[in-house]
Order: sequence, then C-alpha cells, then structure tokens
Amino acid sequence: MTGSPGAPALPCSLLAPPPSWAIDADVVVVGSGVAGLTVALNCAADGQRTVMVTKAQLDDGSTRWAQGGIAAALGDGDTPGQHSADTLVAGAGLCDEEAVRTLVTEGPAAVRRLIASGARFDTSATGEIELTREGGHHRRRIAHAGGDATGAEISRALVEAVQAAGIETIENALALDLLKDAEGRTAGVTLHVMGEGQHDGVGAVHAPAVVLATGGIGQIFSATTNPAVSTGDGVALALRAGAEVSDLEFVQFHPTVLYLGAGAEGQQPLISEAVRGEGAHLVDADGVRFMTGQHELGELAPRDIVAKGIMRRMREQNTAHMYLDGRHFGAAMWEHRFPTILEACRSHGIDPVTEPVPVSPAAHYASGGIRTDLHGRTTVPGLYACGEAACTGVHGANRLASNSLLEGLVFAERIARAARRDGAPSRAARPVPVPPPALPPPPLPAPEARREIQRIMTRGAGVLRSGESLARAAGELEALTPAKPAEPGTDAWETANLHLVARVLVAAARHRTETRGCHWREDHPERDDAVWRRHLIVGLRPSGAGPALDIRTTDSTAFPPIHAVAPEET
Ligand code: SIN
Repeated sequence: MTGSPGAPALPCSLLAPPPSWAIDADVVVVGSGVAGLTVALNCAADGQRTVMVTKAQLDDGSTRWAQGGIAAALGDGDTPGQHSADTLVAGAGLCDEEAVRTLVTEGPAAVRRLIASGARFDTSATGEIELTREGGHHRRRIAHAGGDATGAEISRALVEAVQAAGIETIENALALDLLKDAEGRTAGVTLHVMGEGQHDGVGAVHAPAVVLATGGIGQIFSATTNPAVSTGDGVALALRAGAEVSDLEFVQFHPTVLYLGAGAEGQQPLISEAVRGEGAHLVDADGVRFMTGQHELGELAPRDIVAKGIMRRMREQNTAHMYLDGRHFGAAMWEHRFPTILEACRSHGIDPVTEPVPVSPAAHYASGGIRTDLHGRTTVPGLYACGEAACTGVHGANRLASNSLLEGLVFAERIARAARRDGAPSRAARPVPVPPPALPPPPLPAPEARREIQRIMTRGAGVLRSGESLARAAGELEALTPAKPAEPGTDAWETANLHLVARVLVAAARHRTETRGCHWREDHPERDDAVWRRHLIVGLRPSGAGPALDIRTTDSTAFPPIHAVAPEET
C-alpha cells in the first residue's frame, strides 16, 4: 500500500552544501553508544580502517543515561530459554524468534567479554555479579553498575577502549546523507562538523560500509527520557537512502519518569524499573496499590502493562501522575543502590527517603527502527544499523526491560564480522553525485517547528492513540511543510529528521488498527492476532512527485530476508 496519497512530498536529502573535505575508511560508525562503540572496537580489532562519527562528545549518547542494567542469563539456574520466554511475552506476540534466540544465547558471553574489556559491574561480598529484577522478568537477571549508573560505567569502559585502540573519532558531527556508488551500494556518508579542528563544515567519509548506531527518536515527543541528541537522525538518513524501517509504531513509554509538572519538556529524569524490582510500590493519589490484581507480576508486569495501568488510574482520578513509594528502603539503601535517582529527585525538591515520588509515563525507547537481518544488514547494500536505531525483531511490540544494552553488544559484534564478509576492507568506495530530483524537494523546516512536532506527536501519537488523534497528527505534520526553506544548519537538519520520523511513525500507527504492546489504540482496544500478528515495513519509494510512503505487512512475525545478503550467510 502506498501511504498518504496527495500528501506533500517527502525529502530525499537534507539539502546540505557539497562536501568540502573527505577522508577514507573501510567502515564508518555513526553514533557512540554501546552499539556504535562496540562495532568500532570489533571492526578495528579485525584490522578494518574504522572512523567513528558522533554528534556531540564520544560519551554523550543515550547509553550513559541507562540506569537499570543489562539483562542476560548469568545467574544460577537461569537459562537463555527462560530469558527468551520473558522476552517473547513482553514483545506481545511480535518478536522475531530467531532474533530473540540469537540475543539470549550469545548474550551471556557478550557480557563477559564486556567485563573482560574493563566494565565493572556491582558484585556481592563473594565476588558474584549482583542481579536485580525489572518488569517482565520472572527472575533476577539484570546486572548493574554503580547502583543505578550502569550505562555510564559501560560507556566509560568502551570509550576508554576506543581511545586506547586509537580509533579515529570525529566529534560534534551530524551525519547528513548516505553516499552511494554507481551500482547503488553504500559509498560513505556526508556530515556536518561544528569544530575548529582538522575537519570543519560539511565533509564526507568515503567507506563501503556505514553503520548507523545513532540511538533513539525520543525527541519527537515533548517529554522523554532520551537526551537532546536523540532526534532520529539515523532512521531518517536510512529512509532517505531507500532503506526500510519496521515496527516504528511501537514506542515504549517508561512508566515511571519523575513528574516535573504539566509543561515539562525535553529530557526528564528516569526512575529506574529496578526501584520497583527492589520492592518499591506504585500507589495512586489515595495511597492504593493499583497494579495489584492487574497482572500476576503486579508492579513488575511488562512495561506496556504498567504504563497503561498508570494512565488508566490517572484518568479515573483525574490527576497528572501517580506515586512510587520506596520509603521503606531507608536512606542507606537509597544511597547505596540508587544514588543517581536519589540525587535527581532531591535536586527537584523531592526526597524519596521520606516521601513518595510523583511519576508519570514518558517516551523512552523505540522498539522498532531500521530493518536489519541478524547481521545488522539493512536493505541497502553496505548500510548496517545497530542498537536502538535498528529493528532486528528482538523487541517485537514492547521491549523487555534491560534487553537494549544487550542487543547493542550482541548485534554489534555480528556487524563487525558481516562487514568483513561483505568485503568492506577490500572494496574501494566510489561515490557518485546524486542526480537532481525531478521536482524541487520539500524545503527544510524552520527550527522553530521542532516544538510543534513534539506537541503534535504527544497529543496525537502518545501513550494513548486513536484513528482520530492520529489522522489529526498526520494532517498537522503535513501542514508544517514551510513555503520557503529554512537556512541549512544543525537545528534545521535535526528538525527535518524529527519531521520525517514523526510522519512515518504516525502513518504506521494509523495503519495498525489494533492494540498490541506499547501501541494502544482507543478505537481498537483489542489485540487482533488473526490480522495483525505481523510487522509493518515502511520505506520511501520514488513517485512522480518525489519520495512517497510505502507501507506493507509481513506474512508472519518473521521478517522477510534482506535481499542484499549473499544467500549462504542469511
Ligand atoms: C530502567 O532502568 O528502568 C530502564 C531500563 C531499560 O529501559 O531497559
């Protein structure tokens, strides 16, 4: 099906000036979270000339904000099979089972390699890795570091390893568009660097392999746990390059984000699920534990169920938040186990030791993204995606808590091997100029449109959606296309990325006329396995008026093969 007939054309590029400088590499990795850093380390260790490109500083990605931890079957009596069972249940019938099997079986060894490379996890007095619980897990399976600073520790260890390996890194660089050769294969990426160093302004890294590990899309909503850099740059770049995305409608809203008032915008402080894992209770305005009886795991039900439970109770009581009560932990436990959260709450005038913490859901994680096979390959030859930017099929309709750091590790290692097998180190990149489009492309949106996009998405495509709210959001997003172009620059390019991702997400959410996982349609409140136990795949296809949305459904929960792959390697 072709989406939104008659809608304004979608962009095929960010309309940046031509590159004024270029460097060569075998592999360029865009993004410096757990996924990007791990791909880069593995490619460099394999002898591939590797360049890392990151939008801010090397340690500024989403990974360092991850609190809870990394899930893997590391504990006595735990098995990959049990981890798989919990992942499949949380994914609400839509996980790709082969992808989940890969994650849970390769996960424990990947975590041990991470530890061997210098990451320090919290251990017991006897030296065993301490494991906690989070929503959807039937047992303690989450390794953590610094109490609630797991991502920061993983980021520290990997950044140090990248620096020790001498991997060339370009910081403050926004990746713009993919370069291709005459056969349509990847030949590098253009980028804009804000710096005064060797590379400045618009340039290019020529490489036969480009890995997009750009993280999430949370900034398309007004309130999110994601940092300011999470503007969906990789997903938008991949779409413009002709790659497919999948499951974009499944945005996970974290149930317990510190409530800072109705008008709070941008990145909000997360209150980790591990706080509930250690025994804190969700209570309503009357102090009643409202999740009891809603699910066998109560407050530790999968995240979508807890977020819905909170939203329902907020509606019933006509309030803007619920409370998380961990007063019974006492000061010592808060300080030892959750120092980051304690500090964040206290900096906003709330003391979790003596009072319940006001919490409400906020956008947290994109379960979908750029469609890949089990080796990170996208539908464009030579273009790979990893981590939150990718959709491997592992998360289905709702990611199981703390599976994302693990996914970043496991699939990053696979991409490094695939890039070698696909010939990255032996193939010269020969980019050809992009032919001008038949019709003028849509102008860049004004940077001021960003807040409007966020408001539209929060209102129309947030935790609770309906056909009506989504249709309104689609119309409002289309109307944002300006009559005259904004000046090219980081703000305008990021806003263009947010705009494109928002339009694709809304189109997918309109198409999926059921409620499943974290996609909650008020007008279709039931899960419809007969019709919808399948994925939506979206791409931009050429049309007379420029690229148009193309939406199709898979036949089952398994993804069709990526045709760019040599058959013996699928
Ligand atoms: C949390 O600590 O609650 C977040 C962990 C995750 O998103 O996996």
